Amino acid sequence: MDFKSLFQIKPIEQFLEVAKDSHLHRTLSAFDLVLLGVGAIIGAGIFVLTGIAAATHAGPAIILSFVLAGTACALAAFCYSELASMVPVTGSAYSYTYATVGELAAWMIGWVLILEFSVGAATVAVGWSGYVASFMQMIGAPIPPMLREAFTAAEGGGINLPAALIILLMTFVLARGITVSMLINNIMVVVKVAVILLFVFAGLGHIEPTNWQPFMPFGIPGMAAGAAVIFFAYIGFDVVATAAQESKNPSRDIPIGILGSLAVCTVLYLAVAAVLTGVVHYSELNVPAPIAKALDTIGLGMLSPIIKVGAIAGLTTAMMALLLGQNRVFYAMGRDGLLPAWTAKIHDTFKTPYTSTWVVGIIVATMAALTPIGRLGELVSIGTLFAFSLVCLSVLILRKTRPDAQRGFLAPLSPYLPAAGVVVNLYLMAGLSWHTWLAFFIWTTIGLVVYFAYARQHAYLRNKA
Ligand code: ALA
Repeated sequence: MDFKSLFQIKPIEQFLEVAKDSHLHRTLSAFDLVLLGVGAIIGAGIFVLTGIAAATHAGPAIILSFVLAGTACALAAFCYSELASMVPVTGSAYSYTYATVGELAAWMIGWVLILEFSVGAATVAVGWSGYVASFMQMIGAPIPPMLREAFTAAEGGGINLPAALIILLMTFVLARGITVSMLINNIMVVVKVAVILLFVFAGLGHIEPTNWQPFMPFGIPGMAAGAAVIFFAYIGFDVVATAAQESKNPSRDIPIGILGSLAVCTVLYLAVAAVLTGVVHYSELNVPAPIAKALDTIGLGMLSPIIKVGAIAGLTTAMMALLLGQNRVFYAMGRDGLLPAWTAKIHDTFKTPYTSTWVVGIIVATMAALTPIGRLGELVSIGTLFAFSLVCLSVLILRKTRPDAQRGFLAPLSPYLPAAGVVVNLYLMAGLSWHTWLAFFIWTTIGLVVYFAYARQHAYLRNKA
């Protein structure tokens, strides 16, 4: 048996063929895709984690942490863009891996992407619930802990009702169709970007350069650890690649969507990090709403409610986009037979994978309501970093094995850039804690068991060969 048949590596053309029968609606333009990316990216990371990462890991050098994490993402984004222009089918990293490293690796990536998309959405939902609770408190209608904290997460807790309800609401929107989902996404993206710009411009004049000293209180290791933590803030641009079959001109527009959204968010993040650490001393930033804290410090506390509304909007679109990514990856896995066929069934009217959208929504809502999932941000990051490394590796492999294949976009400086992508993403993975690694190991082991017990026997491409 040769290498290709052992690993079930199939030619790219076979994926394009299978994907042709899709009933998904092709409605998204390049601009929609950029907004989808920004919608997915800006969320709990910038609105919640930045302050904690600055106070406990990096100090003002959190600015450099953002540069480092942004670089890891940019390297991966160039590789995603090349593969998306080459294999413009739904499923993103899962489909690219199928075409390069084969069925088992593809299954494992699909499995690991559950961490990025489903666990990610549940984590953001818990952050969302925190912002809503603080908003309700501010307007004099506090939510009792019984109804806003999971019983496993806090004493006096019961069920995190806001987190569950928002996931179910987003599921309802997603199930109704891509057009209405995008309309809601686009409106909320405008709100959150406006709020971030408001903060940056309001804070600019109040920067005290002495707050940036010492710039690197925890040294380079602290800065790197900060990068691993705030990497979460960048997660989501790859959702754009999962929407390839709903894009009007995927080979051209998916690279624009991925690189454009990442560029916009990187600029905004660097500005927020600089202003935040410039107006408040990093040691005071260990709070769940750092931007509101900064506004209080400069006497603009009256802007806090606006910031909270922006954060709520921001976290809402991040959740919606992550759920969208999950649904499309499951759709692709169902289409290829690795998951049961109902995951790939498209609703006649709404043109969405309706049943699996609801199944995913209910499971994610239950996780957000009843478990301490909000503390699992690192698990989301490790899964995503692993997927990014494999995507970069896939570019290297396909350049060798399929130099002839049509590419609408070429990652520059190959093989150095994709190789650097593998290294930098693995380096950030190495910076995560041992219990995150242990949880990742347990998750991938379960994935292997499910593969050998179910997916392998049902793989459509294997049986077709
Ligand atoms: N990047 C997304 C966020 O920060 C997941 O919420």
